Order: sequence, then C-alpha cells, then structure tokens
Amino acid sequence: MIMTFHFSKRVPADGTDAVGAILKAAADPKVISFAGGLPAPELFPVEGMKKATDKVYEEHGREALQYGAAAGVTELRQLILKRVAEKEGVHANLENVMVTTGSEQAIDLVGKAFVNPGDTVLVEDPTYLCALDVFRSYGAKFVGVPMDEDGMRMDALEDALKAHPEAKLVYTVPNFQNPTGRTMPADRRKKFAELAAKYDVPVLEDNPYGDIRFAGQHVPSVKSFDKTGHVFYMSTFSKILAPGFRLGWLVADPEVVKKLTVLKQSADLHTDNLVQYVVAEFFKENDVDAHVKEISALYGKRKQLMVEGLQKYFPKSVKYTNPEGGMFLWVTVPGVDDTVALFKECLKHNVAFVPGDPFFAGKPQPGTFRLNYSNMAEDKIQVGLKQLGAALDEALNK
Ligand SMILES: Cc1ncc(COP(=O)(O)O)c(C=O)c1O
Repeated sequence: MIMTFHFSKRVPADGTDAVGAILKAAADPKVISFAGGLPAPELFPVEGMKKATDKVYEEHGREALQYGAAAGVTELRQLILKRVAEKEGVHANLENVMVTTGSEQAIDLVGKAFVNPGDTVLVEDPTYLCALDVFRSYGAKFVGVPMDEDGMRMDALEDALKAHPEAKLVYTVPNFQNPTGRTMPADRRKKFAELAAKYDVPVLEDNPYGDIRFAGQHVPSVKSFDKTGHVFYMSTFSKILAPGFRLGWLVADPEVVKKLTVLKQSADLHTDNLVQYVVAEFFKENDVDAHVKEISALYGKRKQLMVEGLQKYFPKSVKYTNPEGGMFLWVTVPGVDDTVALFKECLKHNVAFVPGDPFFAGKPQPGTFRLNYSNMAEDKIQVGLKQLGAALDEALNK
C-alpha cells in the first residue's frame, strides 16, 4: 500500500506558497527581478571572515567544534549587549540575551511560547510575510493594524487593543519595514511602549534593517522606551555581515529568555557554535561600523536610482515610498484589481516584483507590490524600471 501522509495542521496546504511560485517564475535569467530580498553579496566580508575563521580554529578549535550552550556563546552575547546599548539604548545583562539561528528563529520561538491555536496576534498591515507564516503555523488569528507613512498608527493600535483585550502579542518592524520601507518616529515608539504596559501585552520588536540607514536620523528603539519588560527586541547579523551565517538574537526579560531557551533546546540544541566564535572574532579585528556605512552607501545609491526610475518611467498616478534605509520600497498602483495578474503581465516584459497580497494579514490592498533594490546592479535597476514602467502603462491602458 502506498503511504498516505497525514500532516499536522501546522503544515501549509499545497498551493499556498504563493511567494515561492513568484520567486520561481522570476528566477528566469531573462527576467530582471526586484522580487527577491537578498543583501548585496559583493559586500560580504569574505576575506575578513576567512581570517577570523582561521584564528578561531587556531585558538578555540575544540570549543568551537563542541556542543555549546542553548543561549549562545558568552563572548558573542556580551558583544550583542554592547552593541544594543550603544546603538539602540537598550541596557541589559547576559540573562536578557539569547543567540538565535537567524532572527527568524526568534520569531518562531516567540510564536511557540505565546500563541495557542485561535489566539490573536496584532500586526502592521502589511507586514513581513514570513512572520505571518510563523504565527499562522501556531494557529494565530490576525488583527491587522492600519499604517500610514510613519508606520503603525498608535490610535489604531489602541483601538485594536481595546477591541481585542485577549491579544497575545503585537509584532512590529519599526525601521525600514519589510515590505513598505516605512519607519516609525520616536514619539510613536514611546507611545507604543506605553500602550504595551497599559494593555499588558508583549511586543516583539523586529529590527533587521535599522543599521542600514542612508538618510535621515537614527530613531531610538521601542525597547529603549520600555520600563516594564513588555518589549522583546530582536535583530540579526544577516544584513550587516551575511545571512548565510544564520545568526540573530533576542533581548527580553530574563523569564522570557529562560523559557525561549528551553524551547530552542528542543528546536536545535543551540545555534552553530563555530559561526558564533567566528563572528565574535571578526568584530575584534574589523571596523564593522565602517563596513555597515559602505553597505548603507551602496543601498542608498541603488534606492535613489530606483526612485529616479519610478519618477521617470511610471504613470504619474502611481505612489511609492521613499525609504531612508533598508532594502525595499512599496508601490501602489491605483486602478488595479488583481495584482497577481499584473505580476504575470510584467513577467511577459521580463521584469518582476512581489505582489502585495501575501504581506497583508487582513484584506489585501490591490495594486500594491514590493520592490527590492539592495541586490540589483545599478544599470539593471535603470533598465528594469523602464521595462516595468512600460509594462504598467500597457496593463493600465488595456
Ligand atoms: C522583517 C524581517 N525579520 C526577520 C527576518 C529574518 O532574518 P534572519 O533570519 O536572516 O535574521 C527578515 C529577513 O528578511 C526580515 O525581513
């Protein structure tokens, strides 16, 4: 008898991986694809990492290759604490910090620890789709909180918290949000921390892009305004060093870190020990802030070219965000009912984006899509935007 697989409810049904299908279609070498979400590999610090790896093998080879602690390598956790204090105004101790296997794992562990099937999770609408996937896998029901150009609206969040006192979690990406590129100003962040305390609900502040700022002023984290332990702060080395390391972290109340560390143990025992040693070593020998400046400068140049292309080639009715950092901008084309059909039309012109639909927790806003600029050579940005503009013109005038 041929095996019939009875998967758990956590496994998404066949055909629900819309983004996977889009990325596959966009992977044709003829296509200029703004659909991906990758950092620029030409800036990965390959030589520095090679040297750091050699040094780790010479000096700590046996510890680095041994099993390690679930919370992570102490030296790396100390380095993270120093960084979050300097950069984000988050002052914490070793018991507040854990290393995760990519920051994606921090989202997963928080979902596992706080969300039972049927529980309500509040999210920006739209938001990072892999976070939606994580919370969905734990059976979350979403309440999308409306945004404006400055990110999640605090009046709308308060309304949602009043309407959903049962909410288990609020998830936010306050800097250069994926997918919109929007950033929340400081007064909103302060209010956010106050609302979390008033309504006694934890907030997961996800900040993978905050360091990649190419214009404007740094804004303090939501966590820096948190006096009550309601905010959990997470970030990653993926965008400032390399995503292949799968190295992220979470800073939260010690009780939360303790519980998540137990859950992490059942997930993967601990994050790759060698990689943790290598990154800690890399920080000793290299000026990481100078490296981050170089990344930001390149992305800033690419974003600028993209905005110029949007101005030059797109119908005047089209709206788009103009981020001061990060890797994405968000386009809204009025008069489009079916964004996936628009994607297919654009693919015929050999250019691609991610349709907005899967980023929405609630009803998708038609005619929205995400463009990535970090992973595209400058000349291709110009050519691609011209093709995309022509494709949109054609689709809108059909
Ligand atoms: C908003 C957001 N959070 C988390 C992640 C996960 O990053 P990583 O697991 O590489 O740290 C990403 C990746 O693109 C992201 O955009």
